[in-house]
Amino acid sequence: MADRYLRFAGTAPGRLLTRRLGLPQPAPLHRFSPERPSLGGGLLHLTAGKPDLDLAPVLARTGLPEDTGHPAAVVLDATGVRDVDALAEVHAALRPVVRSVASSGRIVVLGSPLDPCDHHQAAAQQALEGFVRSLGKEIGRGRTVNLLRLTDAGAAESTLRFLLSPKSAYVSGQVIETGAAQEADVDWERPLAGRTALVTGGARGIGEAVAATLARDGARVVVLDVPQAEQDARRVAEQLGGTALALDITAADAGERIAAALPDGLDVLVHNAGITRDRRLVNMPAERWSPVLEVNLASMLRTTDALLGAGAVKRGGRIVATASIAGLAGNAGQTNYGASKAGVVGLVRSLAPRALAGHGVTVNAVAPGFIETKMTAAVPLFIREAGRRMNSLAQGGLPADVAETTAWLAHPASGAVNGQVVRVCGQSLLGA
Ligand code: NAI
Repeated sequence: MADRYLRFAGTAPGRLLTRRLGLPQPAPLHRFSPERPSLGGGLLHLTAGKPDLDLAPVLARTGLPEDTGHPAAVVLDATGVRDVDALAEVHAALRPVVRSVASSGRIVVLGSPLDPCDHHQAAAQQALEGFVRSLGKEIGRGRTVNLLRLTDAGAAESTLRFLLSPKSAYVSGQVIETGAAQEADVDWERPLAGRTALVTGGARGIGEAVAATLARDGARVVVLDVPQAEQDARRVAEQLGGTALALDITAADAGERIAAALPDGLDVLVHNAGITRDRRLVNMPAERWSPVLEVNLASMLRTTDALLGAGAVKRGGRIVATASIAGLAGNAGQTNYGASKAGVVGLVRSLAPRALAGHGVTVNAVAPGFIETKMTAAVPLFIREAGRRMNSLAQGGLPADVAETTAWLAHPASGAVNGQVVRVCGQSLLGA
């Protein structure tokens, strides 16, 4: 499972050889750890056009010192770009500084929502998307480029903090939109203290990392997994001071049983359980089609409806669903899986505004790309290598990358993030 190529490419002969042969040059990513919690450099704040927002107080609270020489992060406020002419200012602002951005650094471009601006403004703002995605593909050295469309700087604080931290190491080429302010009294160190989070499929892989990350952020975690995985679920739960719940999520009454197990309700619901049963459609019997749709999508719909209907997800609650880039781009051999994961996107986009209006609950999705887990270790070597390299960071992600993204979406200060589908894929070429 270890990425030996990544290690080799980091050695002196490896660097030389990969450069000579024009091979991918993955850089080791700086990920969050208690020892290295921040990017380890300063912030350069640039503007293009005449911005309406005052970002300075929010940026100051990220704790990144101002740095104009060799910044670890660049924020370009392009919310004031209202026509094509103003795009020249985007070019003029970033071109001179791109080279100086530190390895594993961040470029975050801020834009305005496309609606309700006029078509000249919409064209210029949409242009930022192509700009960001293109720059993400050429910048290299573990650096990421993302676009955040916002209307309210305060409401975007948790998102800015995430994007300007090592927690977003594998998130690049994304377009995220945040809405209006949701007031929240936030403890930025342990934001989930006093809250209960349930993670389906939490006994191993990505779900285990999600459970650990939410527990790190203070949540009391309930690790749900199938009865066959109960021992692992218990082990994970015990390590995190949480509890295990042995339950097959496809059970018709799974929602009711979760609600019964958590009489005080829950604050964070992470739908992570998922399976694959790959075959090309011509060779796929119904026995391989149905379980994938059932585990990945139908049970998610059923339990969400039951829990929201019973009022078991508290106001201010967060639902995070797990999609996949296979649901956005499609993947040979995965018509069942791709359909189920695209269905998750449909669920999230449709339910998000209604869940917020009716229950005060946000609904978002993470869409992982190639993540190093037991699931991907089983993929044949060449397909695995292609999956690892065919993204802007030229490497696979880790379960922690999906977990950190989930923790940001689960954050009490992320109430303005709703209906978003955020790919954690290192800007995979698939479904770009
Ligand atoms: P995994 O196979 O390592 O873990 C999945 C967990 O879900 C297991 O513990 C399993 O027992 C549990 N589970 C399966 N069916 C269940 C059911 N009916 N009820 C309760 N629990 C059930 O998978 P991995 O890699 O950790 O994936 C987690 C999620 O991320 C899945 O939804 C997967 O589709 C998605 N994903 C993973 C990617 C990757 O590269 N590993 C890429 C894209 C999406």
